[in-house]
Amino acid sequence: MVSRFFLNIVLVVLIAQNSATAQPGNNIDPFHYSSRKKVECTHGAVVSAHPLASDIGVEILKEGGNAFDAAIATQFALAVVYPAAGNIGGGGFMVARTAEGKNVAIDFREKAPGKASRDMYLDANGNAQPDRSQNGHLSTGVPGSVAGIFKELLFAKLPLKKLIQPAIDLAENGFAVTEPQARSLNSEQGEFRKYNTELPVFVREKPWKKGDTLVQKDLAQTLIRIRENGLAGFYQGETAKLIIDEMQRGNGIITGADLLSYQAIDREAVNSTYRNVYMVITMPLPSSGGVLLPLMLNMVEEQPLTNYGYGSLKSVHLMTEVERLAYADRAKYLGDKDYYEVPISTLTSRRYAKERMKLFDPDKAGTSEKIQSGSIPAESKQTTHFETYDQDGNAVSITTTLNNSYGSKTVVGGAGFFLNDEMDDFSIKPGVPNMYGAVGGDANAIAPGKRMLSSMTPTIVLKGGKPFLIVGTPGGTTITTSVFQTVLDIIDFGLTPQDAVNKPKFHHQWLPDEIIMERDFNPAIIEQLKHMGYKIRLTSEIGRTEVIEILSGNRITAVGDKRGEDTAAGY
Ligand code: DON
Repeated sequence: MVSRFFLNIVLVVLIAQNSATAQPGNNIDPFHYSSRKKVECTHGAVVSAHPLASDIGVEILKEGGNAFDAAIATQFALAVVYPAAGNIGGGGFMVARTAEGKNVAIDFREKAPGKASRDMYLDANGNAQPDRSQNGHLSTGVPGSVAGIFKELLFAKLPLKKLIQPAIDLAENGFAVTEPQARSLNSEQGEFRKYNTELPVFVREKPWKKGDTLVQKDLAQTLIRIRENGLAGFYQGETAKLIIDEMQRGNGIITGADLLSYQAIDREAVNSTYRNVYMVITMPLPSSGGVLLPLMLNMVEEQPLTNYGYGSLKSVHLMTEVERLAYADRAKYLGDKDYYEVPISTLTSRRYAKERMKLFDPDKAGTSEKIQSGSIPAESKQTTHFETYDQDGNAVSITTTLNNSYGSKTVVGGAGFFLNDEMDDFSIKPGVPNMYGAVGGDANAIAPGKRMLSSMTPTIVLKGGKPFLIVGTPGGTTITTSVFQTVLDIIDFGLTPQDAVNKPKFHHQWLPDEIIMERDFNPAIIEQLKHMGYKIRLTSEIGRTEVIEILSGNRITAVGDKRGEDTAAGY
């Protein structure tokens, strides 16, 4: 069959400064590449935050790999070409639907080190010290990404050696940095100097500029150790020793025992229906998305959203109040369910959603002072999303994070990768907001070995039992509301995937009591919302949403967010 393959080239990026000898796969030149926002095709597709990573994923599909192979190759490549968020020193979640119809959820979230304690970020007077939970060695949770990749590998067809090699080549021989990357590296030079015990390759005297080559020899060696020794190439041996030495130099608390005992966990994917037609598969706790997305969908299910229309006063008001109600429950009830009894089945029941909706006033803005978490009887800034789809019908949705941009800003000396600052996703003190303004209490308090609550919501929507949408985004607490909006945009408001990704988004998270809206939102609606009593805060961008839509006949539309260098690739 002849494939339909239209490329929509929006942004041509680069670059002719250096040229490499070894190339990371056929047809991929790390010194000349471009970012594409939309691809229509019929065989398979990959969307990720970096053109080289998306292209590597598609090469793997063309070479006989399935969506899992493509995801693994993309994930390793992002750890090299997108160091602000792509990672092996962080963690994340994978949600997948196999061609055989099995739902998969892998939790490779970081966990608190064994020496962590509830009040470790409080000073002698009991005041929270967010600088210590957000930067440097002490902010790091035990990394989970490599353990996650080895679980993903159980669904792959090709050997690890093949999937990791493009990343090794990119690290060893370098790639050309883009303009936004040069800007971002330049803006972090002071932080990198402050939080590193040995200066990493990202630090240099003269400013980075577009087209400069970033070579990461230490990272290449770490990846080679993973290639040669598997999981032990990261959690034991030389890499583990380098992490422990780094912790000792910088007063961190991660030990060899923490690394050795880290396990990625197979979870049961959340599976809820929407409007009796769609099946929404997403990540359970420690992702808050697995509770909040079904809760919010249940709350709007009986509302006439299609009549209201995208971006209308009625739909923004309704969705804002639904988000407020859901996030009030997040603050009180959500945390690692292996450590805290979370009333999941109540929160995700239709009865509870109905009960909560009694608080919704269609004519008036709510206030977070009045809207508290529901009462439940005893039951008890930088992340990256990528997704892949193949011609057999495997769908993979992965969100992974270092938390902040470049995580803790600390690179493991001699091993070349950034460590996360995920400890800040715990509630370091009840009521004290984390870097995304989220508050929490007992449910998300720090305890040794516990996983910190996340907003990452990699999601797959099925229609007629087959993948229809693959969706996800970075963006801290805005992740879950962006996924919620994207699903409604396509299903209820009839937007194309490209519009659903690119049209302005908004977000409410209970506290602070405000709607964050992207600046290009219709100003007339913003005025009317203010008039209703809402406090509005304008922001330049919310998230970087990626969508793959699959229609009958395997007609695939893959869309990368206009907000970043996100790239759709397919064939
Ligand atoms: O797991 C979480 O919810 C956060 N660590 C995600 C951070 C994030 O999305 C930052 N990116 N913009």
